[in-house]
Amino acid sequence: MKYETYDKFHKRSDEELTDFIKKLELQALETAEERLPLYLEVGLKDARLVLDAGCGSGFVTRDIARLTKGIVIAIDGSTHLIDVAKRILKNYSNTKLGIADAQLLPFDDNTFDIATCNLTLMWADIPKKVVHEMARVTKPKGKVLASLEPDYGGKIHWPENPKVDPLFAGEAIRKKGGDPHIGRKLRELFVSAGLETKIGIGNNRIWSCAEDKQYYLHSRDFYIKVMKDAGLSEKEIDSWEYEYLKSLDKGMQLNFFPQFYAIGIKPKS
Ligand SMILES: C[S@@+](CC[C@H](N)C(=O)[O-])C[C@H]1O[C@@H](n2cnc3c(N)ncnc32)[C@H](O)[C@@H]1O
Repeated sequence: MKYETYDKFHKRSDEELTDFIKKLELQALETAEERLPLYLEVGLKDARLVLDAGCGSGFVTRDIARLTKGIVIAIDGSTHLIDVAKRILKNYSNTKLGIADAQLLPFDDNTFDIATCNLTLMWADIPKKVVHEMARVTKPKGKVLASLEPDYGGKIHWPENPKVDPLFAGEAIRKKGGDPHIGRKLRELFVSAGLETKIGIGNNRIWSCAEDKQYYLHSRDFYIKVMKDAGLSEKEIDSWEYEYLKSLDKGMQLNFFPQFYAIGIKPKS
């Protein structure tokens, strides 16, 4: 496949694209608590040039742009998402956007102080190439950050629902072309790119039932759509929702979904 024509989201209908963008916005809000300390840890504030690889619709780029005095170059392979990102970032004069392949970055070696990505490796065709490229374009002693990459194998929740749970599990991601186990692969990806690597879990806090409920109510449309698309009847969806909300209201539901991060320092030579 020639990269210029590559756009994973091109095949989505307008409605699907709108839903996807809403989901990215919600994700950016809901993960801010985990990402912001990582940005501080890698020294984003004082960086002069930052790369955001796979910026999507730019909601995460906006957080990065707010936290740095430097310039943020954000790239994505999707023309649709870059168009959205241009709107989201129009008031951020320290951002520059472009369409590019994160697996073949159009930048010289040793260009950026920090190269970062968020939820990009899970969707990249060859994540190893992305990390290698991010390391290549980062300056010696600069930092490479994969701020959040989930691992569906570590997702746990209780009580279970055998019909609905698989719809939100790793297999659903795999079918869409993502790698549901990218989180556990981060160390290997970073070390093989020659980076001094630290791995962690960004969200080591279990949300309260009230937070889970708030999140569900925000993203209810997405949940309902996934269940409808999978062929569940209205009655089945209503009954699942009734039980789910009941267990949240009783304070008995437990949800945990690990989001890994990796910080790599590029060696001096
Ligand atoms: C789940 S979205 C995350 C977007 C954004 N980083 C965020 O957290 O909101 C994954 C993004 O990675 C982009 N992507 C995947 N593989 C890519 C590649 N090889 N080159 C450029 N972008 C890529 C997709 O187009 C998509 O916008």
